[in-house]
Amino acid sequence: MTEPNHARFPGTISLRCIQCQKTYPAHQVRYLCDCGGLLDVWHDLEALHPQINRGLFDGRLSGPPGPRVAPTANSGVWRYRELILPVTIDNIVSRPEGNTPLYEHPRLSRWVGLEQFYLKHEGENPTGSFKDRGMTVGVTQARLMGARAVACASTGNTSASLAAYAALAGIPALIFIPAGKIAAGKLAQALAYGAHTLQIQGDFDDAMALVRQVCDEMGIYLLNSLNPFRLEGQKSIVLEILQGFRWQPPDWIVLPAGNLGNTAAFGKALYEAHQLGLVDKIPRIAAVQASGASPFYQSYQNGFSEKVTVKAETIATAIRIGRPVSYERAVRTMGWTNGVVTAVSDQEIMDAKAMVDGVGIGCEPASAASVAGVRRLVREGVIQPGETVVGILTGNLLKDPTATVDYHTGTWPGASYANAPVQVAPTVDAVRGIIEDRVG
Ligand code: F0G
Repeated sequence: MTEPNHARFPGTISLRCIQCQKTYPAHQVRYLCDCGGLLDVWHDLEALHPQINRGLFDGRLSGPPGPRVAPTANSGVWRYRELILPVTIDNIVSRPEGNTPLYEHPRLSRWVGLEQFYLKHEGENPTGSFKDRGMTVGVTQARLMGARAVACASTGNTSASLAAYAALAGIPALIFIPAGKIAAGKLAQALAYGAHTLQIQGDFDDAMALVRQVCDEMGIYLLNSLNPFRLEGQKSIVLEILQGFRWQPPDWIVLPAGNLGNTAAFGKALYEAHQLGLVDKIPRIAAVQASGASPFYQSYQNGFSEKVTVKAETIATAIRIGRPVSYERAVRTMGWTNGVVTAVSDQEIMDAKAMVDGVGIGCEPASAASVAGVRRLVREGVIQPGETVVGILTGNLLKDPTATVDYHTGTWPGASYANAPVQVAPTVDAVRGIIEDRVG
């Protein structure tokens, strides 16, 4: 790394251990405390308090995009820059990201059993997943630190996002992915954006261990969500929801959980927003895992007395993770938000995905875990039918065409809502028969 420009880091942020509270300067490259604990980017909330209010962020809601507009103007991340990474605008690497839609559809609400059910579609970010919100911050930080290269292990979306933002910034990107276990759309993105793509003989957890070692030994900047700057960007999902609800928070925010970066970021965002007086109440977080990849759910079941790890397997390859890196930060989120954790089967995930797809919204399998999780929690009486719930759709439908086509063409056993293509002779009579049969 070249010598970073210290003057670019104002005194309001530092790195702080979530276990022993030891602090380090924000310009130091480190991902863990000396005690082994995970780090936060810690904002001096007292110093920020006089500057931060709802009007500051509401006043920045952007107009139409135009040429040479500062990235901060149209980004749903950098709108909240004081709470994320207070750097000067010309250093920011942005597509821009965020400003994602909040959908509501009566058929979906009925299906999950709620009166007010919204979906925040993070798959409508520039590279098709929520990772862009963290990556704009991570790559901006990498540039400030003078990184010679950036790297991550990934189940696919982080690597697609890293590849894009590193290409924008002109920094070489190395990505470590489990061979044969990432969705086609995600692999295509990494290759297309020019990342050096290493297919590891092993799963995500093996790739994660390897990239940590490589970054340590070779001075490459690690941009997994172990890196606390990534999580600062992901906080903006929650800030945008709060702002979208005119700072009157919903009762629940429900999200899929894999490596637990997002679960960690959501709790921190809510804690800070509450401390700063942006909101009067904290919504409850529900984290949803795939039952074949549910170490966090199993730890939750034992009251977090033991950190469980598993060998992960699920159709939702994005969350096929057995040793989640942000575990302790996510446990903290559960405490801050009176949160719950649940797990859903691959069958529930794929049926929920078919429902989300079938109303014209669409998402990748891992995202549908949110919706399946909401349905399950309503059935179990944890979420009440009259409560307001926001589910997070984390990735775009186009990310994983194989899972979708398999579901609809009979390769996936037991699909409840399959929409199989019809083989038909090339005659009007043959087509007429099908139309009469299907459309009436
Ligand atoms: N949904 C999607 C579509 C994801 O890609 C991921 C994580 C998650 C949910 C879970 O989020 O890890 O913050 O708990 N994908 C990472 C990756 C691991 O490499 O793209 P998390």
